[in-house]
Amino acid sequence: MLFTNKHTNRCLLLTALSLFLGLSLPAQNKPSAAGIAQKVNNLLAKMTLEEKIGQLNQYASYKNATGPISNTGNMVDEIKQGRVGSILKVNGAVDTRIYQQAAMQSRLKIPLLFGEDVIHGYRTTFPIPLAEAASWDMDAIRLSARIAATEAAASGIHWTFAPMVDISRDPRWGRVMEGAGEDPYLGSQIAIARVKGFQGDGLGSLDAVMACAKHFAAYGAAIAGRDYNAVDMSDRMLWEVYLPPFKAALDAGAATFMNSFNELNGIPATGNSYLQRKVLKGKWGFKGFVVSDWGSIAEMVNHGFVKDKNEAARVALNAGSDMDMEGRSYIEYLPQLVRSGKVSITLVDDAVRRVLTKKFELGLFDDPYRFSDEKREKEIVNSPRNHEVAKMMAQKSIVLLKNEGELLPLSRNAKSIAVIGPLAKAKKDMNGFWALPWGIADESEPVSLFEGIQAKVGDKKNVWYAKGCNVNDTSRAGFAEAARVAQNADVVVMAIGEAYNMSGEAKSRANIHLPGVQEELVKAIQATGKPTVVLVMGGRPLIFNWTADHVPAILFTWWLGVEGGNAMADVLFGDYNPSAKLPITFPRSEGQIPVYYASKNTGRPLVDVNDVAYKSAYIDELNTPRFAFGYGLSYTHFKYSDLKLSSKKINNTQTITCSFTITNSGKYTGEEVVQLYLRNRVASVTRPVKELKDFKKIKLMPSESKTVSFVIDKQKLCFYNQSMQWGTEPGMFDVMIGSASNDIRLSDDFELLK
Ligand code: GLC
Repeated sequence: MLFTNKHTNRCLLLTALSLFLGLSLPAQNKPSAAGIAQKVNNLLAKMTLEEKIGQLNQYASYKNATGPISNTGNMVDEIKQGRVGSILKVNGAVDTRIYQQAAMQSRLKIPLLFGEDVIHGYRTTFPIPLAEAASWDMDAIRLSARIAATEAAASGIHWTFAPMVDISRDPRWGRVMEGAGEDPYLGSQIAIARVKGFQGDGLGSLDAVMACAKHFAAYGAAIAGRDYNAVDMSDRMLWEVYLPPFKAALDAGAATFMNSFNELNGIPATGNSYLQRKVLKGKWGFKGFVVSDWGSIAEMVNHGFVKDKNEAARVALNAGSDMDMEGRSYIEYLPQLVRSGKVSITLVDDAVRRVLTKKFELGLFDDPYRFSDEKREKEIVNSPRNHEVAKMMAQKSIVLLKNEGELLPLSRNAKSIAVIGPLAKAKKDMNGFWALPWGIADESEPVSLFEGIQAKVGDKKNVWYAKGCNVNDTSRAGFAEAARVAQNADVVVMAIGEAYNMSGEAKSRANIHLPGVQEELVKAIQATGKPTVVLVMGGRPLIFNWTADHVPAILFTWWLGVEGGNAMADVLFGDYNPSAKLPITFPRSEGQIPVYYASKNTGRPLVDVNDVAYKSAYIDELNTPRFAFGYGLSYTHFKYSDLKLSSKKINNTQTITCSFTITNSGKYTGEEVVQLYLRNRVASVTRPVKELKDFKKIKLMPSESKTVSFVIDKQKLCFYNQSMQWGTEPGMFDVMIGSASNDIRLSDDFELLK
């Protein structure tokens, strides 16, 4: 069986990419930065203090709140009075035009910015970001963001609150679903792809929206994985692990940043001038603007960092938070703070300039309604081509965790298939958290697994269904029926996991096992002796040890979006050969958390053997993860050979090219993500046992070989020394080429000289 449509996929991706990236809608002739600066200053000179502060005030619409609503007044009146600079949660060409018309009745006619959480698709829902991260395919990830931007921009949206670039190594934290996993290098590459996807040819293009790198900073390290909890970490951990994706997003041109709810080492991010002024706007030279997270300015009172909202407004503005999202702190307190000299008008002017500059760059002063075009909205949004790309992205996100006896791909000869489990017919769950369900994405629209299988083989086979149990309760009433249905089928496909709202914001879980009695259902089905494939869906690493030990074939399918069922069917029947790799470690138990691949070697061995008395290990759990970072199987197999280093000794002005051969030794065309890890053996600060420094996704036909090379340069060898200076130190480095972080296929070493 050949995977013919992998070739199609590639063509689709390249075609769609060129269409979206190369031939995007005509950008207006973009004014120069100096020209815009002049216009901003001219406008600023006309503005009253209240009008300036109005630009720093953002309200949410009542309809779609994703946090506590504060604007108890009449938003439209306030817009007409010039007291509102931006609105979130209003979308669609019609509604955005209505609010923009209100802004055009204000004295200076300053247009509104419309923001929305376009996290994984606007109208066409794509796989959740953590699923896309598993593709390790930067072109595909960029295209996914490009399509989301094109649809959003056609619906009146100027600004998406994405990409979320928070590194997280704690799967108890529900928002891990929204990011790119545990690794700063992979996370940085994905941040770049998403920012470039959202902003396309640059602001001013009719299909570009402002990106927003969030949540600045270190939100993913919430203590105990409990959302909004405090974060406490060393500067080295902050700079080596949590900040790099933000810097990558900034270097990729991210127009805005969003700060975070958490405190960092005792100082809430919103009031953290080290983060926002010293690092972001100072050292990194960020020229865009920072929006607070929802109400996070006023929440500094709850943190115990300020005594009231008045002080919160002062501290936040002085610390570099430019816009107040849905908190009413700025609009209510800044005028008096400025008049009393507690907040400098210079800082207010700087914040207002940053906001106005983006409005000019978007072309909103030339035409405030240019994004609110119903005709274009109808043409672009939810097109069949967008669905095709969503399906391709979903295919690329599915991780093959196990395939004993090569049960997969399923034989076409099976006469009957039983599709069993609480998520077998799931539709809303398929879209995952942060989909836009507010009357935009029709809940009936996502293709369920059952529908996908039926569409693919239903004309030739019997496809039966049994739910078996619910996602998250203790009823076993459906087990018998499910076992009966399984008994009558040639093969069983099970769909288990989390409901769409069991991961996401404010969805931390202390127990990340399969919810309810789902694993008991697996046992009951396994007891029938029928060949069984299990698909596990969810927004985070889950624990399913019994299933992992006893079921021959397992796919982790995350939440795959609107075309999920079709993509899963393509993988099940071999029309797509799974190529994804885990972007985050899957633990065996919650007790191991945080568990991640880039760990330290410690003074006593991290071994799981009994004859070592003093080892760094649990006495009641294995030390290794259940599934490692970078792990994922294929229907084919890959052989690695002939690792060569261009040199065994370099100084830090030179580079080493490391090359090797990879061969498809199986019978199917497939793609392999080859990973380069380095280890700095001895340094003035201990270094991780391995760190991902590069990767490539290589497609090979059966028996085909390719030579792959990576360049090791100084940047890959730097770290922060005891004085927190970024640089290199001489010594030996291990070079590891892996199919996964725990599956190193080739290794060598070299010396870095003084
Ligand atoms: C939420 C989230 C943030 C989102 C914002 C607007 O609380 O923390 O990621 O963009 O509010 O919905």
